Amino acid sequence: MEKEKINSDNFLLDEQLIEKLRRLAAKYEAVGQDLNTHLDGMLYADYLTYWDYINLDALLSLQVQRTSFPDEMVFIVYHQITELYFKLIINDIQQVCQKEDSCDDALLLRNLKRINGYMRNLISSFDVVMANMDKEQFLKFRLALVPASGFQSVQYRMIEILSTDFRNLVSPSYRPFITRDTTIEEMYPKVYWKQGAIEKETGRKTLTLEMFEEKYGKNLLYTAREYRNKNIWILFDTYIKEKSGIEAQIVEEMRLFDVLMNIDWPLVHYRSAVKYLKKKEETTTTTSSTGGTNWQKYLPPRYQLSIFFPELWSDEELKNWGKG
Ligand code: HEM
Repeated sequence: MEKEKINSDNFLLDEQLIEKLRRLAAKYEAVGQDLNTHLDGMLYADYLTYWDYINLDALLSLQVQRTSFPDEMVFIVYHQITELYFKLIINDIQQVCQKEDSCDDALLLRNLKRINGYMRNLISSFDVVMANMDKEQFLKFRLALVPASGFQSVQYRMIEILSTDFRNLVSPSYRPFITRDTTIEEMYPKVYWKQGAIEKETGRKTLTLEMFEEKYGKNLLYTAREYRNKNIWILFDTYIKEKSGIEAQIVEEMRLFDVLMNIDWPLVHYRSAVKYLKKKEETTTTTSSTGGTNWQKYLPPRYQLSIFFPELWSDEELKNWGKG
C-alpha cells in the first residue's frame, strides 16, 4: 500500500510519523497539556549528556574522606559499590513481590539468577578490594568513623525482610517460641541484629544500634508488616511449590541465594574483620569494632544462623550451617 506523504517545507511526514503525533497529542490532551507547547520545549531543550543522565558529577562527589589516608578512599568507594549492588538486589526482589495474590514464576527465576550473580560479584570483589587495604592505614582511619559501622546498612536489613519469613530473622535462642500468631511487633525486639548489638561489658544497647533504630526503626517495621505476606518465601510457598513447571530450578536458585547471602558473604566479610581487627597473628587478642559488637561471636554464620529458607534444607544441612 502506497504511504500517505505530506510535503511540508521539504520535510516528508509519513503515515507512521503522523500517527505518532496523533498519539502524542492524545497523551497530552488526556492530562490537559498542549502538544505544541511540548514540541516547542523540545526545540529549545539541550541534548542529554551521559554525565547528566547518570548524575556522574554528583556521584563522584560522594566519596568524602574523614582522614587523608589514601586507602580510606578504597574503604568508602567499596562500601558504596556494595550499597549500589544491594539496591539492585532490592529492586529485583520488589519487582517479583509486587502482589500478594500471585507470583510470576519465570520472573522470579530470572531475578533470582540475577541476584545470585550480583552476590557472586560482591563476594569475589570483597577479597580483591577489602582484603588488600593497607592495614596500618586502616587501623588509623577507622578510628575517625566510630561509632559508624556497616551494621547500620539499612539495605542489608531490607534484603533480609523482603526475602524471608520474619521469624527466621529472630535470634536463634528465641526462634522456638515463635508461633504463627506471633506478631511482627512481638518479634522485632528479638531480631538477631538487635540481640547482637549489645555491649559485652555493660549489657547495654550499643550507640551504633540506638542511632540506627532511631533513624530506620519505624521504616523497617513498616516494611516487615508490608512484606509479611509477599516476601520471597511466602510467594514461593503459596504460588510455586508443587504448582510450577520450573519449581526445581527456582529451588536451586533460592538455595544458592541463601548460601551466598547467609554463608559466603558473611564469611568473606568476617575474614576481613579478622585480618584487620586481630591484633597479633599468634593470639586471639582483637581490636574493638567500630560498631561495638562482640564481632567474633556475632559475625560468623555458624553462630548467627541466619537462614532465609530453612524449609529447603535437610536437618543435616541445617545442623552444619556455616561450618563447611
Ligand atoms: C575491612 C573491612 C571491614 C571490616 C573490618 C568490617 C567489620 C565489621 C564488624 C566488626 C561488624 C560487626 C558490627 C560492629 O561491631 O561494627 C560489621 C558488620 C557489618 N558490616 Fe562490615 N566490615 C568491613 C567491610 C564491610 C563492607 C565493605 C561492607 C559493605 C557494605 C560491610 C557491611 C557490613 C554489614 C552489612 C554488617 C552487618 C552484618 C550483620 O548484621 O550480620 N562491611 N562489619
